[in-house]
Amino acid sequence: MILIDGKKVSAELKSAIRDEVTQRSILGLKQPHLAAILVGNDGGSETYVAAKVKDCHEVGFQSTLIRFSDNVAQSELMDAIDKLNRDPSVDGFIVQLPLPRHINENSIIEAIDPSKDVDGFHPLNIGKMALGLPSYLPATPSGILQLIDYYKIETSGRHCVIIGRSNIVGTPLSILLSRKSSPGNCTVTLCHSQTKGLKEICLQADILIAALGKPAFLTGDMVKQGAVIIDVGTTRVPSLTTKSGFRLSGDVNFEEAAPKCSFITPVPGGVGPMTRIVLLQNTLKAAGEKRR
Ligand code: GUN
Repeated sequence: MILIDGKKVSAELKSAIRDEVTQRSILGLKQPHLAAILVGNDGGSETYVAAKVKDCHEVGFQSTLIRFSDNVAQSELMDAIDKLNRDPSVDGFIVQLPLPRHINENSIIEAIDPSKDVDGFHPLNIGKMALGLPSYLPATPSGILQLIDYYKIETSGRHCVIIGRSNIVGTPLSILLSRKSSPGNCTVTLCHSQTKGLKEICLQADILIAALGKPAFLTGDMVKQGAVIIDVGTTRVPSLTTKSGFRLSGDVNFEEAAPKCSFITPVPGGVGPMTRIVLLQNTLKAAGEKRR
């Protein structure tokens, strides 16, 4: 069994980004600039956004964090997005999800200028992705493809089973892995909460991707001998042994599944660090396309 080391791969990619930022400054080009909108005080979102800001600092990007309280009006958020769309100093920006229930998330995403949508969530970018046209790819699917590529895992002609059909992971991943590309060319089965016979389907998978957000859902008896397992789950569960009082749990029962796998991603240290890198890659790309 080979443990897929997302920390190591992301460190290498991060160093390449830092080098490119240095090259840009030698050429007299400005620092890439990523902005983030954060609404409320959700612990998970706070942690993720703080990590994104720290990443920017480490690779030499400029970053701007715009905060709103939980009771922000939709129109206030729309105004902030409009400002970022029109601000030539900002190359790309994200609105951290989830948003409070009174906010229409789809309208917010659609208000983002697609050329600054470094999360790749705008319908135009999703549509381009589906057609195989150049676009900003969503972070988690792109990070997974880069891990598969780095470890030279064969995908062509293989059966990939994805559990979870979210807009930001399962659905785009099912499109990317079934495209005529490398990595890609898989036969993809996209499973979800209404799927019947899930265990039998999983047992047919050469590549099994768990992205449903249920800790330790995928048990050893659902895994074919020699399968590749990608665990996208990052659920905070209470823990008595950590200072923070919680730990991150993946969607895979690692102890049961790992002995059967050819490759497996750990949680933490697998997919998570790659997700953060893609945001930096997309921002660098956005800065490059603006040629400033
Ligand atoms: N919430 C969970 N993952 C993400 C992400 O990749 N981008 C944004 N904007 N919000 C998220």
